[in-house]
Amino acid sequence: MEWVKEERYRRLEDTDPDELSWLAAKVARSPWRQGYHIQPETGLLNDPNGFAFFQGEYHLFYQWFPLGPVHGLKYWYHTSSPDLVRWTNRGVALKPDQDFDSHGVYSGSAIEFNGCLYLMYTGNTRDKSWERLPYQCMAQMEKDGQIHKFHSPVISGTPSGYTEHYRDPKVWQQGECFYAVIGAQRSNLTGCAVLYRSNDLYKWEKVDELNTGLPDFGYMWECPDYFELNGQGVLCFCPQGVDLKEPGNIYSSGYIIGTPLDVETGDLQHEDFRLLDRGFDFYAPQTTLTPDGRRILVGWMGLPETKYPTDDYGWAHCLTLPRELRVEGGSLYQVPVRELQTIRGQRSLADGMISSGSLNLTDFAGSRYELIIEFNNIDATGFGIALRTGEKERTVLLCNTKESKLMLDRTLSGRPIAEEFGTIRTCNVNPSTVKLQIFMDTSSIEVFVDDGREVFTARIFPHEESKGVCLFAKGGNVLYRAKKWNIEVEGSKLNVI
Ligand code: FRU
Repeated sequence: MEWVKEERYRRLEDTDPDELSWLAAKVARSPWRQGYHIQPETGLLNDPNGFAFFQGEYHLFYQWFPLGPVHGLKYWYHTSSPDLVRWTNRGVALKPDQDFDSHGVYSGSAIEFNGCLYLMYTGNTRDKSWERLPYQCMAQMEKDGQIHKFHSPVISGTPSGYTEHYRDPKVWQQGECFYAVIGAQRSNLTGCAVLYRSNDLYKWEKVDELNTGLPDFGYMWECPDYFELNGQGVLCFCPQGVDLKEPGNIYSSGYIIGTPLDVETGDLQHEDFRLLDRGFDFYAPQTTLTPDGRRILVGWMGLPETKYPTDDYGWAHCLTLPRELRVEGGSLYQVPVRELQTIRGQRSLADGMISSGSLNLTDFAGSRYELIIEFNNIDATGFGIALRTGEKERTVLLCNTKESKLMLDRTLSGRPIAEEFGTIRTCNVNPSTVKLQIFMDTSSIEVFVDDGREVFTARIFPHEESKGVCLFAKGGNVLYRAKKWNIEVEGSKLNVI
């Protein structure tokens, strides 16, 4: 079904309640609802927003179009959690109900100040001829959870030298000042990020563009996020329109790392751009700091301009699991937050050797689990694990020892997604020992390789009965040792408005 503009820009508040019930019933018929990932009750979820710890809880908002699986009039939806694992739906946080955000409460971030959580976001507006004008806006969440918007935007329009693509403020505090980076497009149609400073979160002044070594790198940088880790400066962002010279996704999400940002000049010295995730469905991540000082990242498990099989059931996308970041050898490593261990249920163990053949781990069958497997003493030319296997389906992690490559192959995972961008993704590995930590949910897989050196994130849409787990080796032997825990968390409750 094609959605015309009038349908996509309808407001939740003006929608017939019967339409919402009908949509919710359609979602409930979906075979692909997730078990322990944040997902929308109806409609489309995209970027994580406003990720912060405040008043003893984590708050995580997301971009939401409630009325169908398309990018329409965006709201901020609010979820919260005591532990980054068990999330409660809290309803709509920000509606597009002001002149300065009339066509969408777009992405942004949060920061605590003076006992409140401040939400800084982009108000998307369009005029009669559908010309876009962005505003950077602020709202304030009180201790009791009440949210009030500021009466006027804190940054109006765009400075000269930039187009109307100017959005997604990520705010942080450094010393006495607040800073924000905003994703932007220059008038010459190249992407960049612009640095702002404020003393009070009300009045903002432009410092300068971030001065990186990437003056001509894509046509727009979405969702920038700057932070420091281990004394290094890290800028995550989503450059649109870059050719990364390998089969990849429609848009990519990555980072540059180097010496800390000079907040007086905007200078950022850094190494080459690297991908944050080697999988298929990952975009627009956002980070926050926990009270005990860990830097945690959550991403959108989806991509813009891409159709997904859940569209037929009136919903689309989910968020990734939260990952803890660390710097090692000049790169970012990502591991699932340790709190996820608290949802480990029934455990199965297996170990042994496979010699040119395959082995079904019958105890390991399932569709919602965590699985850790280590491969050692490898003289096979290829080996790996097939997951969610069924009569005709399988999702395969295959290590090619000669080429030192690990592949995630979703060619036979079930219903296809964006096949025109390929069905295999790869990363480099040291083939003498390989460790995989895998989180499987009904319709997604997240694979942490070698303690977080690489991550593959992907949606998969297998048949409900495709639950098998099978190990295999070719041209030699491999020793393996595997553990699997079922994951059972009660799904989030319906709580739309
Ligand atoms: C990234 C993005 C942001 C924008 C938001 C709108 O996915 O395009 O740049 O703020 O989504 O939903």
